Amino acid sequence: MSKITVVGAGKYGSTTAQRLAEADVADQVVMTDIVEGLPQGLALDMNQSRPVEKYRTLVTGTNDYADTAGSDVVVITAGLPRKPGMTRMDLLEVNAGIVTDVTNRLMEHSPEAILVVVTNPLDQMTTLAAEVSGLPRNKVMGQAGMLDSARFAHFIAEKTGADILDIEAVTLGSHGATMVPVPSLCKVGGRPLADVLDAETIEELVDRTRNGGAEIVGLLKTGSAYYAPSAAAAAMVRAILTDSEETMPVCAWTEGQYGIDGVYLGVLAKLGASGVTEIIEAPLTNGETEALREAAEAVREKVDDLRQIGSGG
Ligand code: LAC
Repeated sequence: MSKITVVGAGKYGSTTAQRLAEADVADQVVMTDIVEGLPQGLALDMNQSRPVEKYRTLVTGTNDYADTAGSDVVVITAGLPRKPGMTRMDLLEVNAGIVTDVTNRLMEHSPEAILVVVTNPLDQMTTLAAEVSGLPRNKVMGQAGMLDSARFAHFIAEKTGADILDIEAVTLGSHGATMVPVPSLCKVGGRPLADVLDAETIEELVDRTRNGGAEIVGLLKTGSAYYAPSAAAAAMVRAILTDSEETMPVCAWTEGQYGIDGVYLGVLAKLGASGVTEIIEAPLTNGETEALREAAEAVREKVDDLRQIGSGG
């Protein structure tokens, strides 16, 4: 019997719950939110799609963490999204309070769960959930690299006219200003990206990828992206529940890879039943490795800021 909990029934949370239910990889998806009636109503609506979409997973909407008990995997989407003009970092203080509270409540009922954090600022909220939960680091990870890589792939497909399914794109680093799209690992129909596009065009796509979230926030005006983000989060949960050992770009705890140690950062990792089962050190150019190290330092600095806020300093 496998059970997934999605915390937060906003757009990100509810589309993640929907994708996971439709994937039919769990017996139950529990969706919890502080707004009364919202997760219940959405769950009822999703359940009624089952005979049409042909899946069995039952979705439960609740405001009570007791209903999340015994979850195998939890996706934490709770927190505020950005408004136009805001950076993800502007959400640091308010979302830190929410993620701390949510993690404590979850651990009361599912002390063995694997946590997939998506709340922004992503790298710091993942670190916080790991610290508050006290779980082994391999059981706590963040979703960002799957999304940023998917955005990069979309921009490459759009520019080259190649089939989206023939594009391999990789984005590492932070989910913010120090995001590291990695052109040297990208391929179009098996060919290196640098053989298909000139350096200036690649740099344009790298920039657009780095600003991919803000571009959508600017268009939507209220709220942030959720279709690609939920696809990314659901793919990670599927890999864990099916013990697929698939390699994905995720925010994971580094232990010396690329000369980076003891910080949550976007890297390539294998996901399986125990969470992050291995971090893969990809062959990067010197410039890309340097950018990754800078990203690690930027994340570390903000995590320190967070600790100052936490200690009232
Ligand atoms: C984004 C948010 C979800 O990048 O971080 O769209």
